[in-house]
Amino acid sequence: MRIYREKDYDAMSRRAASIIAAQVVSKPDCVLGLATGSSPVGAYQQLVKWYERGDLSFKEVRSVNLDEYCGLAPGHDQSYRYFMQANLFDHVDIRPENTNVPDGLAADPRVECARYEELVAGLGYADLQLLGIGRNGHIGFNEPCGEFPKATHVVDLTQSTIEANARFFASAGDVPRQALTMGIGTIMRARKILIVASGADKADAVAKAFFGPITPEMPASILQLHPDVTLVADESALSHVVEAEKR
Ligand code: F6R
Repeated sequence: MRIYREKDYDAMSRRAASIIAAQVVSKPDCVLGLATGSSPVGAYQQLVKWYERGDLSFKEVRSVNLDEYCGLAPGHDQSYRYFMQANLFDHVDIRPENTNVPDGLAADPRVECARYEELVAGLGYADLQLLGIGRNGHIGFNEPCGEFPKATHVVDLTQSTIEANARFFASAGDVPRQALTMGIGTIMRARKILIVASGADKADAVAKAFFGPITPEMPASILQLHPDVTLVADESALSHVVEAEKR
């Protein structure tokens, strides 16, 4: 695993964006696995700047997002489709038909999961999968549990994730209770993984995920088994790693 230790969120974002841009430049029709949340916003902003300057094009890029809330329409301002449009897709030249996010409104979420898994497999899985990490170590919406879920599936969100995401909704009661997410198996089939983490509230999860035991109770710990992982994090998110590295 490669670790980039950056001084703050902005530096982390520039570093992550440069790794994504390098992927797009080296393979213009690559499949980018994308994430939502606070962690990748700065990287998306940087990518938009490079696009606006004419330094980068997404014309041939295909994208697959990790996850979506069940029950939220694409136009709902907290849906992950909306997030992707607002933070990246609407500002670059990616073709709308080449962007994929699970359908939160699917009549049968299980059928939608099977469709989405097949779609990602049909694209040959991600060339580069961007991830954030939850405070409980989740990746995508793969929450701590008894085993690593393989394929795209429906998940019941844990109380800690509902509380963490409540900041984006009017109240915790408005946070959807279920989501559709790529499985750990889907994520692990990406050829490269880029994980971004910022802030002291991620320090414990980062140290445990990358320096602790590999266990489904800490879903991101599976990444220790992936052959090409890059962690880009700021000083605060890495503050417990110094201790972990000494052990
Ligand atoms: C988002 C996702 C989540 C987030 C994680 C961290 O698509 O799948 O796993 O990456 O919850 O969220 P932030 O970046 O908001 O701290």
